[in-house]
Amino acid sequence: MEAGYRLAAISLAISLAHCVAGKLGVLVSRRVILGLDTIRIEETIKRIGQLPTLPTVLGKVLDAAGDPETSAVDLGRHIAVDQSLSATVLRLVNSAYYGFYREITSVPRAVVLLGFREVRKLVLTATAFQSLSGGDSGYDRVQLWRHSLATAMAAERGARMLAMPLPGDGFTAGLLHDVGKVAFDLVYPEQFQRAVSLAHKNRSFVRDAEREVFGIHHGEIGGLLGEHWNMPEPIVESIRFHHEPSLSLKSAGLTNLTGLADYLTYQVGMGEPSNGCEPEYPETSAAALGLTSEQVDELRNHLEQSADTINDLLGVLGSR
Ligand SMILES: [Fe+2]
Ligand SMILES: [Fe+2]
Repeated sequence: MEAGYRLAAISLAISLAHCVAGKLGVLVSRRVILGLDTIRIEETIKRIGQLPTLPTVLGKVLDAAGDPETSAVDLGRHIAVDQSLSATVLRLVNSAYYGFYREITSVPRAVVLLGFREVRKLVLTATAFQSLSGGDSGYDRVQLWRHSLATAMAAERGARMLAMPLPGDGFTAGLLHDVGKVAFDLVYPEQFQRAVSLAHKNRSFVRDAEREVFGIHHGEIGGLLGEHWNMPEPIVESIRFHHEPSLSLKSAGLTNLTGLADYLTYQVGMGEPSNGCEPEYPETSAAALGLTSEQVDELRNHLEQSADTINDLLGVLGSR
């Protein structure tokens, strides 16, 4: 763990312990019913609490971007506090994805040209990559992020198609839906590799193997992490239940959409390789969302055409 994260990690361990205490009761009671080892689950959650918080700059930027009183200069100033973050945001703004004719050299200018929501999205992406890089387990984090960006793009497109009020939430939920896998890999690299090997050996989903190894799967641990990062509730629910959308009570739309977007990435060769099998078409999710098969095909085609853009963004983020 980098030195800068150590202090944050200590306070995180304490606050996450508080944060998860209530949730743990619910999880543990569910596991008792399922007959799983509750002590192992508790230990797993405590250890995940050693992960760093997202940098405070992210919270400030997210708040400022949602405040109608904030100007482009104010938002740019918040981002500029973290030089490496503002450099990454500018690299993303100048990537082929946006296709600006002239180079954009200041964050306030980028905010004016792209809008607050788009810049908020870029800051979240850059911060997530920055905070969750590192580790040398051999797990292919590049593939994971390619898959996450692809899920984010498909979910955002789907949210626009469905005229959801906050299509950017589709991007956020998609980007972070598998964050629990990164958490496992950072905290328990050997055990996570064991879960991946088990999934491949059994030709099963890695979430089933995670349950065997950790007693809890990446959606559940990712949901707790999202709560700790103060992500909005719909995002947390989408992360937690993206493989079990019928359990989502308050944000079923976004959760179903995240699960569907996740599935589509496998259809276009951008799935996540820790799984030992391919997911099936989530028919109930498409039906719950009211999407026709033509609309699902359209989302798949959009994703297929976005492959170069995703690789381009990945290259920019990977060059940190
Ligand atoms: Fe997943
Ligand atoms: Fe996924």
